[in-house]
Amino acid sequence: MLENKIQMINLETKNTANAGSLTFFESKNDIPFEIKRIYYIYAVPAETVRGGHAHKKLEQLIICLHGKIKVILDDGNERKDIVLKKPNCGLYLSPGLWRDIVYLEEDSLLFVAASEYYDESDYIRDYDEFLAYAKGR
Ligand code: TYD
Repeated sequence: MLENKIQMINLETKNTANAGSLTFFESKNDIPFEIKRIYYIYAVPAETVRGGHAHKKLEQLIICLHGKIKVILDDGNERKDIVLKKPNCGLYLSPGLWRDIVYLEEDSLLFVAASEYYDESDYIRDYDEFLAYAKGR
């Protein structure tokens, strides 16, 4: 079930009256993995689709820090759309999920915490290859 491969995590947040909010999370304590890499995607024109790949090993926590982003997930059997728009809401993605990511609003900012260093050989960028990989798991 795709539901078992993802998790919406409400990140702990300190709200201060008239002085904004602070959200935080710690490796292993608040998310299921140790963070090795952080990256973020920004300055994407509205309605642009990025992603279009799956990972074999990588675990990620993705957060829409600003704007609105739709994540279209596919585990080879099921599909699910999730709209992210809250900076205190993290979406955990386990390995083996194809994702298309639609940047719905101008200036949307996607922040990603990842469990591994960048490794192009961890990517599956061909959808048919992904389907074969998902069936064989
Ligand atoms: P990619 O993960 O395909 O981004 P998106 O899914 O948003 O389109 O990465 C885009 C390019 O950036 C690709 O050439 C790989 C490179 N890249 C790195 O060099 N290091 C990284 O940590 C990441 C995430 C990507």
